[in-house]
Amino acid sequence: MAGAAQATEDYVSTINSVLAPSRRPGHTVLDLFAGCGGLSLGFESAGFRSAWMESDGKCCETYNANLQGRCERLVITPSTEIPEADVVAGGPPCQPFSASGRQAGDADSRNGFPSFVSAVERSRPRMWMFENVRGMLYRNRGYLESVLGRLGRLGHVVDCRVLNAADYGVPQNRLRVIAAGHDGSFEFPEPAGRATTAGEAMGDTARLHRRDSKFLTPGMDRYVAEYEKKSQIVTPRDLHMDKPARTVTCRNLAGATSDMHRVRLPDGRRRRLTAREGARLQSFPDWFEFAGTETEAFYHIGNAVPPMLARALAASIGRYLGGG
Ligand SMILES: C[S@@+](CC[C@H](N)C(=O)[O-])C[C@H]1O[C@@H](n2cnc3c(N)ncnc32)[C@H](O)[C@@H]1O
Repeated sequence: MAGAAQATEDYVSTINSVLAPSRRPGHTVLDLFAGCGGLSLGFESAGFRSAWMESDGKCCETYNANLQGRCERLVITPSTEIPEADVVAGGPPCQPFSASGRQAGDADSRNGFPSFVSAVERSRPRMWMFENVRGMLYRNRGYLESVLGRLGRLGHVVDCRVLNAADYGVPQNRLRVIAAGHDGSFEFPEPAGRATTAGEAMGDTARLHRRDSKFLTPGMDRYVAEYEKKSQIVTPRDLHMDKPARTVTCRNLAGATSDMHRVRLPDGRRRRLTAREGARLQSFPDWFEFAGTETEAFYHIGNAVPPMLARALAASIGRYLGGG
């Protein structure tokens, strides 16, 4: 038990300190579709100065309250004026490509890739990088290849990998497509070692409930059980404290869905996660505050690049850029 408490203390003190903004910012990054700032938090902690663009007011509020640069609230289009930066990075909206949606890809009006590609074409950064869901490799693989082809024609070497956040200090299996354009000398970060478990990240709070906890009702229990039976899931998908969590998304944090995240309490009842627990599983530090309602926070957390993964990528990019 003492060992478990120590593991939680180690995890929390790591994310709280490692993700603090660097005191000596050097290279610059422009974060397009910045959300609440998961990606930028990783860059700032690795010594980057950042500028960001995002259309959602609450995301910008969160961003401006926690990060050093200022988030500009605007709707990015392919002709948005782009400031100079060493790195153009971003996580264009994933809904057009997510396997849990219609996967309409380029035909979906929310597709942000034309704007991302145009920003890179016009600003010619030393490196670019984007993150998106693994769904891009399925029905929209051809579209992903056309985006990479267009970016590759600008002269960069193009590298595209699937990384698991669990390999970079995030207590969650989260497989994401990460693509990067560089001069040939950039190296993706090496996995960090043993994965952190959900129990280590959440500690004893996972065994507790509050008066306002969202308990699963008997109807929800039946709904989840039917889904798991139909999907031939043998072990209930409650949060298993001895493993990294399954992928945290907006839907499974915010909605009473069949795959909702929930913990089983010692008395057998099950409750949904709080925003702070979701944030822990995404590796947001405890000092990072989310603006808006709990539901808005769930969306911002579920959408984010886990800051510890972002930091590993940003540290590798910093080494690639060199100097300072
Ligand atoms: C996947 S999230 C990005 C998450 C972010 N990378 C992070 O780590 O926190 C995509 C974001 O794009 C924003 N967005 C969608 N369309 C946009 C547009 N045309 N201009 C600016 N932001 C947009 C959404 O509000 C959402 O916050």
